[in-house]
Amino acid sequence: MAKIHTLSVLCGTVLLLLFTAGEAKQPHIVFMVADDYGWNDVGFHNPDMITPNIDKLAYEGVILNQSYVQPVCTPSRNSFMTGVYPFKAGLQHGVILPQQAVCSPLNLTFLPQYLKKEGYATHAIGKWHLGFCKLECTPTYRGFDTFYGYYQGQEDYYNRTAAGGKDFRDNKDPILPDTSKYSTYIFAERARKVISQHDKNKPFYLYFPFQSVHAPIEVPKGYEDMYSNIKNEGRRKYCGMVTAMDDLVGNITAALKENGMYDDTLFVFTADNGGWTQFHGNNYPLRGGKITIYEGGTRATAFINGKMLNKTGYTYNGMMHAVDWMPTIISAAGGTPPEEIDGIDQWESLRTGEPSKRTEFIYNLDDINPPTQGHAAIRVGDYKLIEGFPGVYPGWYKPETETESTNSEEEELKDQERNVRLLGRELYNLKDDPYERHDLSVSHVKIVEELSRKMAEYHKQMVPANYPQNSDTSNPKNFGGYWSPGWC
Ligand SMILES: *[C@@H]1O[C@H](CO)[C@@H](O)[C@H](O)[C@H]1NC(C)=O
Ligand SMILES: *[C@@H]1O[C@H](CO)[C@@H](O)[C@H](O)[C@H]1NC(C)=O
Ligand SMILES: *[C@@H]1O[C@H](CO)[C@@H](O)[C@H](O)[C@H]1NC(C)=O
Ligand SMILES: *[C@@H]1O[C@H](CO)[C@@H](O)[C@H](O)[C@H]1NC(C)=O
Ligand SMILES: *[C@@H]1O[C@H](CO)[C@@H](O)[C@H](O)[C@H]1NC(C)=O
Repeated sequence: MAKIHTLSVLCGTVLLLLFTAGEAKQPHIVFMVADDYGWNDVGFHNPDMITPNIDKLAYEGVILNQSYVQPVCTPSRNSFMTGVYPFKAGLQHGVILPQQAVCSPLNLTFLPQYLKKEGYATHAIGKWHLGFCKLECTPTYRGFDTFYGYYQGQEDYYNRTAAGGKDFRDNKDPILPDTSKYSTYIFAERARKVISQHDKNKPFYLYFPFQSVHAPIEVPKGYEDMYSNIKNEGRRKYCGMVTAMDDLVGNITAALKENGMYDDTLFVFTADNGGWTQFHGNNYPLRGGKITIYEGGTRATAFINGKMLNKTGYTYNGMMHAVDWMPTIISAAGGTPPEEIDGIDQWESLRTGEPSKRTEFIYNLDDINPPTQGHAAIRVGDYKLIEGFPGVYPGWYKPETETESTNSEEEELKDQERNVRLLGRELYNLKDDPYERHDLSVSHVKIVEELSRKMAEYHKQMVPANYPQNSDTSNPKNFGGYWSPGWC
């Protein structure tokens, strides 16, 4: 008896040791989302940009060259959180407007809810924009232990006011941090705080959707002065905002180092959509920008970094989509991603540099108001089919560096527009023609039909867009001057 007992205890110990040795340590995870950040607005794509902290992380990590997002903000963020395409969540038409009684469907489980099950402490700092008309829609009810930031899509970088209401929260509480301070500093202070106060026995998750570099175009003069060579004032300030954001990234990495967490941290950095050309964001040489489904609106500036990656220091050309981050991060955290989502777990591919598991994706499907709005687009392998109106920024816009205004390549654009008006369809081979200059829809009819059929299959799963009229009950006057939950 005694012998058998000893043996089983020994076996148990050996098994336990094997298990512990084989199990990877759960990484800390910092998921950074830059707002309206253009393809051509980062040092690793454009040497005119001053982004040393971002560039260092990117070059020492993996630059993602085919990482796609939605053309606007709310749908991308919903994809990051839920792994579900916006057209299945009713969020395909646009962003949630300030007075719309809409939030990300409450029956969808958010990424931080899964991470909490894996033992993570979960924090959010920055912009929410996934709805707030009732408390159940807000960050601390959707998986975050703490939240520090604002609910709406944009606000002033100093007075923290948007569309006639103040908008800032510490968890649920309305606050108004020092309005003489540029928000980037305020957010950096909060990051230092949650990092230094973190219980080091637990894995740490920080979702950091930056205010930068969304309009309004505001930046402390010191940052603007770093770009004194730029003639256009808006572009000069915008570039300053980019460098302020880069400083924030530097402060996050510094805080993680000071607290002994840096070596165990997986960084994910992505834009939520392309640069907004009207507000000086730039995506050149990609076509278009924010709000359009051309590559300039949807192919994100992105990278990952971390010592747990087995291959680094290169550019990954595998296909990623916004919906993939949720299952990929759950997998990196040691969890099992849910099955009933659109996202694909890409952790092994990203970690080892193996080919992407994704071969196709939907850019968006939106039926509202064609032909001046409403569009559909799909990518399958190297081909991309667009049906309907591609969006309001159809050209190729060079940065306003040497000239006062954007330098759009108009002639080529006129040809393209003629085709679109005539056919309502565009087909591109993104491998040969990543800048979408040569529409193949006339010469490659079979491929058009094949992709169109595929898109129609996806379309069967679409739910109607949840895009109601404004609710007057949302008025901040009813809530002490703050945009607040309690009106839906
Ligand atoms: C969530 O609710 C919507 C609308 O009621 C429904 O269409 C959808 O299938 C539900 N999704 C899940 C994941 O339960
Ligand atoms: C906040 O700043 C904006 C400019 O970005 C201005 O239009 C607005 O009036 C200011 N609001 C308050 C309450 O100071
Ligand atoms: C980052 O940290 C440095 C050093 O503490 C500080 O001077 C700078 O203002 C910080 N930048 C931001 C954007 O918080
Ligand atoms: C990591 O990469 C090395 C080669 O660089 C390889 O020998 C090793 O098997 C890889 N490990 C895993 C777990 O993929
Ligand atoms: C990134 O993609 C572009 C085309 O979209 C391609 O020309 C370029 O070679 C790729 N970069 C790398 C380093 O693979």
